[in-house]
Amino acid sequence: MTVYDFDEPIDRHGTDSLKFDRAESRHRSADLLSLWVADMDFRAPQPAIDALVERSRHGIFGYTEPGDAYYAAVGNWMETRHNWHVEPEWFVHTPGIVGALALCVQAFTRPGDAVLVQQPVYYPFSEVIADNGRTVANAALVYGNGRYEIDFEAFERTLTEYGAKLFLLCNPHNPGGRVWTAEELRRLGEICNAHDVLVVSDEIHMDFAQPGFAHTAYASLGRKFADRCVVCTSAGKTFNLAGLQTSNIIVPNPQLRRTLRAQVSKSGYSQPNTMGVVATQACYEHGGEWLDQLKAYLAGNIELVESHLGTTAPELKVMRPESTYLVWVDARELGLYGKDLVRFIEDEAGLWLDCGDMFGKDGDGFIRINVATQRAYLQKALDQLIAAVERRRVRG
Ligand SMILES: Cc1ncc(COP(=O)(O)O)c(C=O)c1O
Repeated sequence: MTVYDFDEPIDRHGTDSLKFDRAESRHRSADLLSLWVADMDFRAPQPAIDALVERSRHGIFGYTEPGDAYYAAVGNWMETRHNWHVEPEWFVHTPGIVGALALCVQAFTRPGDAVLVQQPVYYPFSEVIADNGRTVANAALVYGNGRYEIDFEAFERTLTEYGAKLFLLCNPHNPGGRVWTAEELRRLGEICNAHDVLVVSDEIHMDFAQPGFAHTAYASLGRKFADRCVVCTSAGKTFNLAGLQTSNIIVPNPQLRRTLRAQVSKSGYSQPNTMGVVATQACYEHGGEWLDQLKAYLAGNIELVESHLGTTAPELKVMRPESTYLVWVDARELGLYGKDLVRFIEDEAGLWLDCGDMFGKDGDGFIRINVATQRAYLQKALDQLIAAVERRRVRG
């Protein structure tokens, strides 16, 4: 068995990394510790690196279309890890999941239509809706008992008030880290089916469920749910391949699939990224051991955030994620919102984080910490955050 060392420091500067090389072009100080965008500071599994090196040595990077082995690798992963059977003909390829969400909005709604989301939620959800001239209908999540819950009545009320046509579901939830249970998903699905609302389930974080939680692929709930959905998956988050911009959008219903494929064609996209195909296949074939070790490491990092902030900065309430490597922290006791919170995090704590209201007004006053980094780096970031909170406490 290969033992992976996730503590090994890896300098990502000088790689055109969005997280480490683009602070200044985004009007931030270059010396902030960076724990914002959701990629990881770990190398991808060795079998994927080996497959990419081998393909690089071949030296020809012509158009590529995934073959049987690719679909078998993804299918086997979904079957064994998620108890979800997918057929090779169900796949639609897009360059990444945000692109797929935008294409779904374009394919399945008209300008002016309402699209449902549950804020606070990953901000590109509302961006792809608004940027395409549709209306954001927010059925906000309810925060109680340290985690987000769904108010099903409010969900149905919002859906009917706006006459929504589409629901962008974040499953599991970013930023709150909830693993929606099969029961919760079924209830949402029943409401959507009753009102003829199509469900687009973004499952990019599907592989990070912590012990005691199990991811449910929306389409695995049964035929009537599978028939009215699009499930967005990719190896991007699971194996840290985000920059390869390769995704597997699974659409069991042939009519919906045709509609989505037509929209993809209209955008001018045809074959997926060669290196993305190579890496995705290698990861799904051989990356299981790496992922299991990674998840144990991430659990340790989550534990560190919880214990460290819990004992020294009671103003910050950690929402323990059930999945994802993103920790959502309720910082409202600091009394800082919007730009003031961002200024505090950057100027006082020296951190680059995604903060609050970019996830929708329901997220204002919260901060999100990406813990997929070396523990020593995370520790340093937490120390800076705690010191800033202590200084603010002393100032009164
Ligand atoms: C819920 C969710 N969906 C999609 C993405 C991005 O996907 P992609 O890079 O494939 O567009 C992210 C990245 O943070 C995410 O958290």
